Amino acid sequence: MTFGVSMGKGASPARWSTPRFIKRGTGTWYRKYQSIRFLLTRDRRAVVDFLAAKYPFDFPRSERLRLLAHFTKTTNAVRGYHTLEEILTVCHHIFLCAGRKDLTVVECGAGSGSSTAKLSVATKIAGGRLVVFDSFRGIPENDEQHQLLDGRDLVFRRGAFKGRLTAVKKRVEEFGAPEVCSFHKGLFADTLSAFDGHVDVALFDVDLISSTEQCTSHFYPRLRDGGAIFSQDGHLRATVDLYSDAAYWARLGSPPRIDGLGTGKMLRIARRPH
Ligand SMILES: C[S@@+](CC[C@H](N)C(=O)[O-])C[C@H]1O[C@@H](n2cnc3c(N)ncnc32)[C@H](O)[C@@H]1O
Repeated sequence: MTFGVSMGKGASPARWSTPRFIKRGTGTWYRKYQSIRFLLTRDRRAVVDFLAAKYPFDFPRSERLRLLAHFTKTTNAVRGYHTLEEILTVCHHIFLCAGRKDLTVVECGAGSGSSTAKLSVATKIAGGRLVVFDSFRGIPENDEQHQLLDGRDLVFRRGAFKGRLTAVKKRVEEFGAPEVCSFHKGLFADTLSAFDGHVDVALFDVDLISSTEQCTSHFYPRLRDGGAIFSQDGHLRATVDLYSDAAYWARLGSPPRIDGLGTGKMLRIARRPH
C-alpha cells in the first residue's frame, strides 16, 4: 500500500522505494534535492515555457522566478500529489485568464493543501478567487476497482490523502494566499450544489470515478468561454472511459475538446468553439 492506494499484481513497489536509511519526507534534504532535480530535468520544459509565456498583464521574469522558488519551497514543506509541470499547466491557464471580471478558479481535491496553496498564489496574482472542495477526510468509502492505463489494478482506500481542513488552512496561510480562498467541506455530492456561479479554471484531482463524474457534471456546464477544466486522473481507465462517452457529454450540453485523453495523466477539457 502506498499513500492509501493499493496496487494489484504486477505493480512495482521499487518505484517508491529508496534505501531505508535515506529520510525522504517533507523537510528533508532528499526532498529538496529531488525537487531541484525535477525542476531541471523532468519539469524543465514546463518551467521554460512558463518563463517565456505571454500573459495579459505585466509579469516580469524576476517575479516568475520568485514564484517558482516559492512553489519549490511549498513542495519541500507540504506533502503533495502533483508534479511541478502539472501545477504550472493549471497556473498558466489561470494567468491567461487574468483580468477577467469575477475570475473564478475551483479546486476539487485538496489533499494536504500543497496544490491549494500554489493555486491560491496564482489566483491572487491573476486577481481572482479560489473555491476549494474536499471532504477534508480523505477518499470516501467506495467499492470502486480501478485500472491504470497500463493495465495494473488499483484501489483507493477510504481515508487516503487525508488533510484536515484546519491543517490545510494552516498550510495555505503559511504558503498561499488565504484571502482569496473559500473552503467547502464535505462530500462533493453534498457540497457542490452550494456553487452556482461560473468557473474559469478548475482542477480535479479526485481519484474516484464517481467523484470525477460529480465534479465534471457540475462544473462543465458552468465553464466560461476560454476557460478550462484540468483533471489529474487521466491515468485511470475509468476516467478515460467516462470522458470518451459521447452520450455523457450530450447530457451536459455539448462535447468538449479534451487534450491528453488516453495518453496522459493531466487532461485539459475545454469547450469547442461554436
Ligand atoms: C489525490 S488527493 C488530492 C491531492 C492534491 N490535489 C495534491 O496535488 O496534493 C484527492 C482528494 O480528493 C478528495 N476526494 C475524493 N473524492 C471526494 C468526494 N467524493 N468528496 C470530497 N472529497 C473527495 C480526497 O479527500 C482527497 O483530498
